[in-house]
This record gives sequence, C-alpha cells and structure tokens, in this order.
Amino acid sequence: SAAEKGGYDYFMLKEIAEQPKAVADTLLGRIGTDGRLTLDELRIPDSVLREADKVVIVACGTAFHAGMIAKYAIEHWTRIPCEVEVASEFRYRDPILDGRTLVIAISQSGETMDTLMALRHAREQGAKVLAICNTNGSTIPRESDAVLYTHAGPEVAVASTKAFLTQLVACYLVALYLGQVRGTKWGDEISAVIRELGDAPRQVEQVLQTMEPVRELARSLADARSVLFLGRHVGFPVAMEGALKLKELAYMHAEGFAAGELKHGPIALIEPGLPVVVVVPSPRGRSILHDKIVSNIQEIRARGARTIVIAEEGDEAVAPYADHLIRIPVTPVLLQPLVSVVPLQVFACELATAKGHEVDQPRNLAKSVTVE
Ligand code: AGP
Repeated sequence: SAAEKGGYDYFMLKEIAEQPKAVADTLLGRIGTDGRLTLDELRIPDSVLREADKVVIVACGTAFHAGMIAKYAIEHWTRIPCEVEVASEFRYRDPILDGRTLVIAISQSGETMDTLMALRHAREQGAKVLAICNTNGSTIPRESDAVLYTHAGPEVAVASTKAFLTQLVACYLVALYLGQVRGTKWGDEISAVIRELGDAPRQVEQVLQTMEPVRELARSLADARSVLFLGRHVGFPVAMEGALKLKELAYMHAEGFAAGELKHGPIALIEPGLPVVVVVPSPRGRSILHDKIVSNIQEIRARGARTIVIAEEGDEAVAPYADHLIRIPVTPVLLQPLVSVVPLQVFACELATAKGHEVDQPRNLAKSVTVE
C-alpha cells in the first residue's frame, strides 16, 4: 500500500531515500567517544583476528560488489592478503583454508543458498566465519562463528540499495577494526577515517538532494541499447554495481569494466552516442589513477561516446571531457563508493521507470535466492 511505501511510488525510491539513516544506524554505538571502534558483538576473540593470515570474502550479486570494495580496504589498512569470490564458485575449486583463515560472508537476506554452502564449506575446513548480514536470526548468521549486523531495516525492493550501503559500512568497520587490533603503520589514517565515516550519512543526504539532473538524464536515455560503466580502484566495483542495477531494473545491456582494461578489448564497443558512465577516483591520494582515468575518458570521447562523469567536487580536470558531470562530495579515497554508487541507483531506477518497468519486482528475479 501507499502507506507502507511512506508516500513514495515504489519501495526502491523509499529505500534509496532511507540510506542516510541506514548508514547512521549501522555506525551507531560502534565508534567510541575516544574515536576507537568497539565491535563487542564480534564473538571472534581479538587474538584470533590478530593471528589471521588470510581473509576470504564470499557473497553474491550486489553483496559481492561490497566484498570487492572491502578487499581494497582490508589489504590497505591491515596488510592481510584478502581474496573475494562469488560464493557459487567458491567451494567447487577446492579453496585453501585453515584455522588462520577469516572468511567473511556478506548477505542481506542471510538465506542465499550459494553463500550458505560456501560458508559451510569454509567451516568444515576449520576457517572462522564472520557474517555481515541485514536479517536478524537468519540462517547465515546462525551458522557463522560471529555476525556483524547491518541496520538497514527491512529491504523490500528486489534491487538492493540501502543494504548495499550498509554492507560497505560494515566492511569498512571490519577492515578498520582489524587494523586497530593488529596495530598497522596506518594507525593515524585509520583514526582519521573512523572520524570521517561519521560524516557519511550527511554526505549521502547531500548527494540525494542533487539528483534531479541525474533523473532527467536517465529519462533521456530510455531508448539507449547499451550503457557501459568504467571505474578504477574502488570505483571499479561501483561500476559493476551500476551495471547490475541497470540490468536488473531496465533489462538493458550494461557492463562494468576496470577502466584500464578498456584498451584490452572493450574499447571496440565504443561507437558514436554510446552512453558511458565513468566513476572518477579522487584526484587526491592516488592521483596517478586520476590522471589515467582522465586519459581513458578522452579516449572514449574521441570515439564518440557520450560521457557521464561522476567526480568529486572541485575536480576540474575532468570537466572538459564530460558531456554530463555528476558531482559527489569529497571523501577519503576508500570511502568514495558510499557516495558514488547513489547516483547510479537513482539512474537505474529512473531509467527503468521511464521504460515502464515495475522496479520493485523485476522480471525473473527473487529477493532472496534460496536455491543453488
Ligand atoms: C541485488 O540488487 C540483487 N537482487 C542480488 O544481486 C543480491 O544482492 C544477491 O542475490 C545476494 O543476496 P543476499 O545479499 O540476500 O545474499
């Protein structure tokens, strides 16, 4: 009913709008007044976390994209090698696991069979499993050694939005906590990022307030045959997530690539008028990546692509090559997905609506996939 949707036409719109609160609720009580993280609910003792020599993340779909982003954060802040794999592939290749492996299973529903089977396999090999989950008491957290709940609240729309943002928050919390207990050389950076995470709800809200041009652009592209998404570093999984949203909702051909892979094949797809969304890394920090993506944008534009550029406020270098420029707030490099994915959610939702699709219940999809 309309009341359940809180005045929005679709649950997806309501859930996109709820993201600042979902992020705030997931942070609540986890950052101490001294600026240190307290994850008391993690029943895995700090000694086990200190001794872990490998992290393996398993998940499906959107949760897998959260896991891809987590890998950048975990390896950078903790220096523990981290692998991430789609859960449906994991156990069939005889992965190397033992008592020093920390497996992280990410799932909104907590009932995804592929993810459940992957974590059962990991536990049989003696690995410790931490679930990141949005559904209290569901199967995946019940079968794990520990759980960090995301507090997105119930997500009804099949396409995940607020659950994804809170999965990112939970992944950052785990990465930062591992860094904290293991005491890496990034201690100062970790404290600074913990402080900046507290600002994420306000920044997500700021992005939501500036989405009208994105909706207008989406409507103008309702007849496009295909849309490509490019990113680098943590922008690469964001590009994949943008493409997944468009496939699920608009039933359109969409693909996400690492921008550096363009020249190894996908650039052959570029033709005049093809919309290409580019998620631009911050010009601060790893600025070499920024220079490289600027060249990637020039290359595709020279071949006629219509460039839709998502870039940080104050990043002027990309402006001359952007047919459409979508601004996002300045964040620490690794936290950028929290703001850069939001325009992609709005874009897919609006484009699908313009095509007349039912965004809450896309064809052929179920909210939770309980078969392998
Ligand atoms: C998200 O938009 C999708 N509907 C889907 O990829 C989903 O993320 C995936 O099936 C995993 O679900 P889970 O988080 O409930 O395990």
